[in-house]
Amino acid sequence: MSGQDRQKRQAAEAAAALVEPGMLIGLGSGSTAALVVEALAARQAAGLRIAGGVPTSEGTATLARRLGLPLAELDERPLDLAIDGADEVEEGSFALLKGRGGALLREKMVATAARRLLIVIDEGKLVPRLGRGVLPVELVDFGQRATLARLAALGLTPTLRQGKDGRPFRSDGGHLIADCATGPIADAAALDRALHAIPGVVETGLFLGLAPQLLVGTADGRVLTL
Ligand code: 5RP
Repeated sequence: MSGQDRQKRQAAEAAAALVEPGMLIGLGSGSTAALVVEALAARQAAGLRIAGGVPTSEGTATLARRLGLPLAELDERPLDLAIDGADEVEEGSFALLKGRGGALLREKMVATAARRLLIVIDEGKLVPRLGRGVLPVELVDFGQRATLARLAALGLTPTLRQGKDGRPFRSDGGHLIADCATGPIADAAALDRALHAIPGVVETGLFLGLAPQLLVGTADGRVLTL
């Protein structure tokens, strides 16, 4: 197991330890969130009973089902807790950049439906400014070239994500994803507003103002709570 994987696992286990009986939980997507699902299943085997887990992707739903966790729909009830990973977390503001796994729309719906959001990362995900890597932006098919041109007009460099089969990647909602090189993002809220003002944009990977609690796995084996 790599050092980064060990950090993810330690933080994921710390997150699962915070889950209490009867909670309705948002289950994130990606490799760290998968470790949280595994840790929750281990707690269930030891007697924990949750009300249900709302999965943010088909991948997470499949894993949770295989491990026997009860699943629930996102409905009018607020979630007690959502637990997810992130691609980048801005130090200081705790603004998040997410969606490199392609699950950004459902992840944002679940994160904003939760009373409390736990973000589980290895310390390499902490950045002084978002934008070290690409920003995923989810788009509808219709007018995709026009939408990509409007992203470029904002100063971004968008690339349509390709799937393993060489065809355009599709989110679980059937949409396209443009991975946008941004450079360091000085004003994430302004960029998010500008992106949402483009009609073909479904959602962005900027998760702002959510006041997440962070669980950060570190190289020396600790889990920091920030
Ligand atoms: C998926 C996400 C993931 O949370 C993000 O990509 C982090 O993934 P990983 O835990 O595998 O590093 O936003 O859409």
